[in-house]
Formats: sequence, C-alpha cells, structure tokens
Amino acid sequence: MPFAPSRLSRPNLTRRRLLQGGLALSAFGLAQPRLPALAQSAEPRVLTAAPGEAQLLEISRPATRTWLYDGVSPGPTLRVRQGEEVFVRLVNNLPQPTTLHWHGIRIDNAMDGVPHLTQHAVAPGESFDYRFTVPDAGTFWYHPHDRAWEQVARGLYGLLIVDEPEPAEGIRDFAIVADDWRLGEDGQIDEASLGNMMDWSHAGRLGNTLTLNGQDLLEVLVRHNAYMRLRLCNTCNARVLELRIEHPGIQLVALDGQPVEPRALTDGYIRLAPGERADLLIHFYLEPGEMAAITEVSGGQRLEAGRFVYHPIDRVIHHSEPHLDLAANPLPTNLDLGTALAVELLMEGGAMGSLAQAMHEGEMKDIRSLVGEGMAWSLNGVAGMPEAPLFTAARGRTIAVDLRNDTRWPHAIHLHGHHFRVLERDGQPAEMEAWKDTVLLDPQKRAKIAFVADNPGKWMIHCHMLEHQASGMTSWFVVEA
Ligand code: C2O
Ligand code: CU
Repeated sequence: MPFAPSRLSRPNLTRRRLLQGGLALSAFGLAQPRLPALAQSAEPRVLTAAPGEAQLLEISRPATRTWLYDGVSPGPTLRVRQGEEVFVRLVNNLPQPTTLHWHGIRIDNAMDGVPHLTQHAVAPGESFDYRFTVPDAGTFWYHPHDRAWEQVARGLYGLLIVDEPEPAEGIRDFAIVADDWRLGEDGQIDEASLGNMMDWSHAGRLGNTLTLNGQDLLEVLVRHNAYMRLRLCNTCNARVLELRIEHPGIQLVALDGQPVEPRALTDGYIRLAPGERADLLIHFYLEPGEMAAITEVSGGQRLEAGRFVYHPIDRVIHHSEPHLDLAANPLPTNLDLGTALAVELLMEGGAMGSLAQAMHEGEMKDIRSLVGEGMAWSLNGVAGMPEAPLFTAARGRTIAVDLRNDTRWPHAIHLHGHHFRVLERDGQPAEMEAWKDTVLLDPQKRAKIAFVADNPGKWMIHCHMLEHQASGMTSWFVVEA
C-alpha cells in the first residue's frame, strides 16, 4: 500500500453564507457580454495571459491574486459560428511557459496546444498564433496544457462557444463556468499546496470555494416564462461536480458540445467531471419573489453556489413555443466495430492502489522511486508520457478502447482531436447514446468507447484530473495522414 489514506483527500466546499434581507441583484447576471464574432479576419484577437486579481469572494473580502486571460475570471468567452475561423494570438505575460488547448474541438493537430507534442511551449514574453476552423457547433473551452495543474488552478480558462448557423428564436443563451478554488483564510490561492503529492496521489487538487462565473454566489435574473439554453462547464482541476438546479422541467440537450436526444434531468441533477460540458434547456416560470437555487452536493452537503432570481420586468411573451432543435454535428459516426483496432487502457496506481512498479522515462521503477519522481499513476503500466504511442491508426480506422479503472479513485479520461461514443459501461450497453470527448469512470469501473480516427496527427489521451495527468495518467496516439 504505497500511500496512507488521508482524511484530507476530500476538502469540503465551505458552506455559503445565507443572504439576509433583500437580494443584491448583481448586474453580472443580467446579460452575458457577447464578443463580436471572430469572423475571418486578417487580425488576430489578442488573448493575454497574465497575473491579475479577481473578486471571487463577496466584496467585503479581499480580491484574490490569480492568473487570468485578459484580466477576467473566467477568461473572455470566445464566440464563433460553426465553420468559421478562430484566430487568436496568445500573449504570454506569465512567469512560466504556457500554451492554449481548445478542449473538444476537432482541430488541426498543429493548433492543439500540447507542448512537446504539437508545439513548443510559449515562453514568457512570447506569443503564439492559433488559427483554425471549428467543425462542430456547441460548448467548448480553452485552457493551458503546460503545467495545467497549476495554471488552471490559478484561474486560466475560458469558454469557446460555437454557434449553430441558425440561432434559436426566443431562447436566451447563458453560460456558467464552475470552478473550485483552494483559498486560504486570507482569500488567496493556497500556493504551498500546489504540487502536493498527497493531492496528486488521491483525488487531485480539490478546492474549498466554488465559484460560478468567478463569483461565489452567482445571481442570474430571469423573466417569467423565459426559455434559457444554459451551458455548463466544469473547469475544476479535479472535482466531479454534482449540481442541482432547483427548478422543474429541465432538459438535457447536449453533452461535451454534441447534441443528445433531449431528456429530462431527474430533480435537476447533473454530474459533471472536470472538462465535461452539458447544455440544458430550461423553461423558467418564476413568480415575483421566487428563485431557483443552483446547489452543489458532491461533498455530501447542499451548498448554494448560485441562483436564478425572478426579474421584475414584464413577462416574456412568446408568439410561438421556442424550440431548440440542435442538428447533429458532422462527426464521423460510421463506426466499423467489426474491423476496429481494439485497444486496452488500464488505469492503475494512486493511494490505496496496488501498483507496485511501472515504466517511467524508459525504465522500470518501483513505486517508491516513482513517487520520488512525482509519479503516482500509470496507464498500461507506464507512468507519464510513453516514448512510443499507445497505438498508430490508419486514417479512418475505427478504434475501440476498453477503459478499465483499477484504482480507488474516479478518473475522467479525455481524448484529443476526436469525439467518441460510449458503447458500454461495465459490459452493459451505455444508457445513453452520446458523443463525448471526456468520460468519467468511477473506481473499479469499465467502459468501452469507440471512435473513427479521422484526424491526422499526434493526439493525447489523459485523465482530466489535472494532478493525475501530471503524475502519470497520460498517453498519446498517432493517426496517420
Ligand atoms: Cu482539456 Cu488535454 O485537455
Ligand atoms: Cu485521474
């Protein structure tokens, strides 16, 4: 048993203060600033990563020193229409190298933002141009892929929203980015625990303060009879969020950017692993004085993180019932399971696990030496990036991956450059047909996923608990041109 179990492994989120008296209606909830579309243009949109401050806590508390894109937390929402080009110049004003990864975009490999694999990391003071077209409409996000465990924990992430060619009529579009921060009493990021091996070998870095859109109690004003497309994104380093929106009649309409057959959320409950997104359609019928709480229950307590509040401006009149009919994205869905390349991905290690040894940087090492080098997890017996790819696929080949979590911890496996279908869970057909880029596996669970490897290049597959990724759970594969 390489690690002792720890009571510290799951810090609870702090219980939210109860608001007294009248609600302070924040202007933030009213409208989401909408950036001009990044239409084809010769000029890049400059996105600057730099240290800054964010008012995460209530205004009477100190601002938190963070790292931010363009000085805001979350970073600016980038918005384009499906099929258009994104042209962003990342300027690095951080004290360390960085990159931008466009999570969930089926992207040109050279733009995938993985240091050492698809580009050189962008040194402090330097910049890098990302220019690519977006094939799929939906909810995506961007974040660094160099020391992501530190840079994401310090606040670097933002949404990339790709709009359908035809906007839905009469439906308000609103996004919520959820993050848990580990803050000290002084409201500052607990820096001493960055890189803490106890976190790395357990669940990952779990925060104690949950923010929605960078606020510890988000208030969103909604009019009676309003329809909302709510885009949720979990940017936590490691926390699997269990959110409840306490309003009836919520439909799930997309996962990880890809439309699903709409289905009702039971009790407004949704579980989102780090990196995952969900799009919901909500028909609000709040009456004067009413609100619908957004709560988080993963720590076993019910924590209010935000609320939808009745907006005392006249009710919305719809001339016809709004419809959100999301067309399927142009994914390669023609899985050829008969001739698929079968790949196994075995997750091992972590606290209370049975991993005794693993390959690391070309050498077999026992668990003690691995931990000495910051490694706690392995994929197929290899800790950290293997020298050889997990597999090499001819372009167009179907790949079927048998994911096996032989650890005591949940893992969110993320695939770059492609979306996959979850075919089976624990040998049973998956309960929902969904095309995903990230899939959560609870301890000792299995899942079978498949995808058509149609995007040439070198792609990562890794755990999106960022500390697990950094301490071993990472690999890569090749799709031939
Ligand atoms: Cu969102 Cu490789 O990560
Ligand atoms: Cu993991």
